[in-house]
Order: sequence, then C-alpha cells, then structure tokens
Amino acid sequence: MSKMHPYKNQLIQGDTLAVLKGMPEDIIDLGITSPPYNKQEKNNGWLVSKVVYADYKDVLPEKEYQKKQSEVLDEVYRITKEGGSFFYNHKIRWVNGEMFHPMDWLRKTKWVVKQEIIWDRTIAGNIRGWRFWQVEERVYWLYKPIGDDKKGEELQSKDAKMTSVWRAVPENHNPHPAPFPIWLPTRVILSLLPKQKSAIILDPYVGSGTTAVAAKLLGFDYLGIDISQEYLEYAEKRLKEYKSELEKVEKERSIHFVKKSFKQRKEEGLYQAKTNNPLFRVHK
Ligand SMILES: C[S@@+](CC[C@H](N)C(=O)[O-])C[C@H]1O[C@@H](n2cnc3c(N)ncnc32)[C@H](O)[C@@H]1O
Repeated sequence: MSKMHPYKNQLIQGDTLAVLKGMPEDIIDLGITSPPYNKQEKNNGWLVSKVVYADYKDVLPEKEYQKKQSEVLDEVYRITKEGGSFFYNHKIRWVNGEMFHPMDWLRKTKWVVKQEIIWDRTIAGNIRGWRFWQVEERVYWLYKPIGDDKKGEELQSKDAKMTSVWRAVPENHNPHPAPFPIWLPTRVILSLLPKQKSAIILDPYVGSGTTAVAAKLLGFDYLGIDISQEYLEYAEKRLKEYKSELEKVEKERSIHFVKKSFKQRKEEGLYQAKTNNPLFRVHK
C-alpha cells in the first residue's frame, strides 16, 4: 500500500496547520487554494461585505496572520513532492492606507515563487475613492524544486498561451461566501498535469470543494481540509453530484488548444509581431 493512501479522496475537518503537521512528507503532487484573507470583518468585512465565514472569524492581527500563512505554506511545501507546485490565490489589501502584499510573506517561505498571475475578475466589490477600483486578485505559482533546478518542466504551448492575466468573473452560484470558480483549479490541473495518469491534489482551505470537484472530473485524487463542517458537507454533496459540473470543466479544456506550437509557427514564418497581436494592443 502506498504511503499516500490514507489521505486519498478525503475531506478533513480541522485547523489546516494542525492537520498538515500530522501528515507525512512528499505525498502531494499539486495544490491549489484560496485562504481566508484576514479582512477584519469590520462592518461585516471591508473587502466584500457578504464574505463572513460560518465557523471562522477573519480577524487576526496582520503580523500574526502573515506568520500563520507562512507556516501553513511551509507545511504544504513539506508534504508536497519535489517538482510539485502550489497555486495560492490572494490579493493586495490596504488597512488604514498601509498596503499588504502577498509577497510580504511568500518570500519568507521555502517555496520558489515561479509566477505572479493577475486574475482580472472584471468587476469590483466596493466602490470607494482612495484609489482606482481594484478589480484584480493574484494567483501565485509556487514551486518545490528538484535539487537546484528552480525552472522545472516547460509548459505545453496549449497551456502557456493562457498568459499571465486570467480574465473571468467570480463564481456566484454557490452558497459558500467566497468560492473560486471551477475554471480556476481546472486550468491549473490541465496545465500542470497534462500527461499524468494519477496524482493527488491538495486544497488546504477547500471550502465548498471546488478544487476537489475539478480534480475528480479530471480523473485525479484530491485531499481537502476546512475548519467548517457545514462547508465540507456541501463539498461532499458537490462531489456526489460532480458530473453536473462537467460542462464547465470541458469549457475550460476546450480553450487549452493550439493548432501549431510557438516553435512550429516560428519555423513556418507565421510568428506575429507583438503590435499585430490583439492581446498586446495598447491605447494610443
Ligand atoms: C476563501 S475560502 C475557500 C473557498 C474555496 N476555494 C471554494 O471554492 O469554496 C477559505 C476557507 O478557509 C476556511 N478556513 C478558515 N480558517 C481555517 C483554518 N484555520 N483551518 C481550516 N480552514 C479554515 C473557511 O472555512 C473557508 O471555507
């Protein structure tokens, strides 16, 4: 029996840090998560007023919050296999004019920060005038190197073409207060595990189970942790009815497609200069 077996396809209720500390090392292939953002819950949460969790008060002193996030990230690193990645969704926050950037604590962890992806959600929650509307969140691609090689494997062209700006609206058909949309973990899994036949995918703040449902639909195993029994029960329900979400996953899969790779296009003289490419057009 493999050592990862006891954790395969489990949703575990508990405090993430404590649960991770009890797990053996090198059991996870890939992880995706969105943690609580420490949004203080003043006036029911300054970030988005409806985001108030069932079993968790999102109100730590900022220093303590960042320290705890670093500890969680280092535990995830420990249980991830070498060559494995972790995608961490967060955002830039301001409290009384002071900016808190996820890189403030990411740089203190063991992970190699491979990329900062902008998720343009195309809508803003709050409309206040101190700065331009913040419509974006960030997704950090964190990598556990094999030896000294910080580069890791190359992405396939069909996945690399997704660019470092992901533009799509957030999820709104879900009773959880802050779910991410299923295309997000789907994009990560398709891009990072294009050929693998088996893998175990972790979400240490699994909430309504979006990562687990995406993993199951794509034929992989999952492991989820959340403090809230209520959210985990909803996640179990989603996992039972997982086929009803197949269409959304297939929609994401359908855009992971190129007729010709970058290399072939260059070789055949089909390479378009940046200025002709609508992706790079600028306002003049
Ligand atoms: C942003 S939500 C994740 C939502 C998830 N991505 C989804 O699609 O439903 C953060 C989750 O962290 C959970 N949480 C907060 N503190 C926790 C802790 N100390 N240990 C485990 N889970 C925690 C909350 O219950 C919440 O479900």
